[in-house]
Amino acid sequence: MFHYKDRRLFCEQVDLEEIAQKIGTPCYVYSEQSIMDAWQAYEDALSGLPHLICYAVKANSNLAVLARLARAGSGFDIVSGGELFRVLKAGGDPARVVFSGMGKTAAEIEFALKAGIRNFNCESEFEPALIDEIAGSLGVTAQFSLRVNPDVDAVTHPYISTGLRDHKFGVDIAAATEIYRKTLSLRNVRASGVSCHIGSQIIDYSPILEAAGKVLSLVETLQSEGLGIDHIDLGGGLGISYQENEDAPLIRDFITDLRDRIGRAGLTVMIEPGRSIVGPAGVLLTRVLYRKKSPAKEFVVVDAAMNDLIRPALYKAHHEIKPLRRTEGGSVIADVVGPVCETGDFLARDREMPDVRPGSWLAIASAGAYGFVQASNYNSRPRGAEVLVEGDKWRVIRSRETFEDLIRGESL
Ligand code: LLP
Repeated sequence: MFHYKDRRLFCEQVDLEEIAQKIGTPCYVYSEQSIMDAWQAYEDALSGLPHLICYAVKANSNLAVLARLARAGSGFDIVSGGELFRVLKAGGDPARVVFSGMGKTAAEIEFALKAGIRNFNCESEFEPALIDEIAGSLGVTAQFSLRVNPDVDAVTHPYISTGLRDHKFGVDIAAATEIYRKTLSLRNVRASGVSCHIGSQIIDYSPILEAAGKVLSLVETLQSEGLGIDHIDLGGGLGISYQENEDAPLIRDFITDLRDRIGRAGLTVMIEPGRSIVGPAGVLLTRVLYRKKSPAKEFVVVDAAMNDLIRPALYKAHHEIKPLRRTEGGSVIADVVGPVCETGDFLARDREMPDVRPGSWLAIASAGAYGFVQASNYNSRPRGAEVLVEGDKWRVIRSRETFEDLIRGESL
């Protein structure tokens, strides 16, 4: 959805420079078409099988994005009361919401039960008991899954790998049957599924298939013991290509292979993709402020920083950087850095890129997922605007924060 036309970078049919000029930078821009195409790719690949795509709200929780997905019939994977609040505001159907996360508070559980969500993905043996108690006091019955830890290596960045025995997530798959058995005595909860999420940004998806196989044998055991397990939730979706020379697999191929493993079991298949739906659909626009040289390096100083996009600083993540206008000029090897007072504040390191001048605009690619949602006000920097492009139209879906926004709620 992002392409050059007459040397200018477009999102769908909108010249990104027009947005940068009118809205200023830093500014996130998302392509509606790209988001919906990716969501539809999951939907098409799962057709004919009972399924529910629960978009992982954490990846990009802007109301306009959620509303568009809700309109298409998407479900949602939430990890906090705040995310549930957003989904409801955006018109999402609570009956298609699953609640993941390992530290649900009693207040969040109560909020979710009152809203009538579909399922809780529980991360310990204590959670079903707490949900049971709260559901009992509200006079409702809740459905839950246990998130099992299959001890499979997702082969991704250690901070976003979650399926190994020494990770904090889920319950050991070997202990799961016993925990499910114990919940049979709880009157206000019903075990309806098994869930599993081994990590994010997974490019070689064979570990997900391996985990799915392990989950399926657990389901068979549970069913043979009379538990009414009717769904399996496989957690997040595919990784994406952050580098031009890196090819992520197709969503269709991933789901086809998954179907081969689990499609005949008669279970509803749930999946919670985030990154693969919104990641490629977004860029972060930034403007070059200065060019600077140290004895050892060239620096391109831009107006976006680690507070706007923390992925490079936090995970050493690579994001392609493209000029909004292609010129004939030469190239340079530089660090692209922001104004924040930390050496870790970089968007790219030792990057070969166009020899840009102050005043020119750049697009930081694949920033639609875990971009704005991880932004902060560090260094008292107002968070940037968010824009949604639809065809030849665009609109601001979150305005740039002001200085007043920075001090909201504070007192002298
Ligand atoms: N379900 C659960 C239970 C999760 O923990 C996650 C991501 C997802 C679904 C969505 O996974 P995806 O389809 O996006 O891979 N901030 C990091 C990513 C953290 C992912 C956390 N969990 C980053 O910027 O790479």
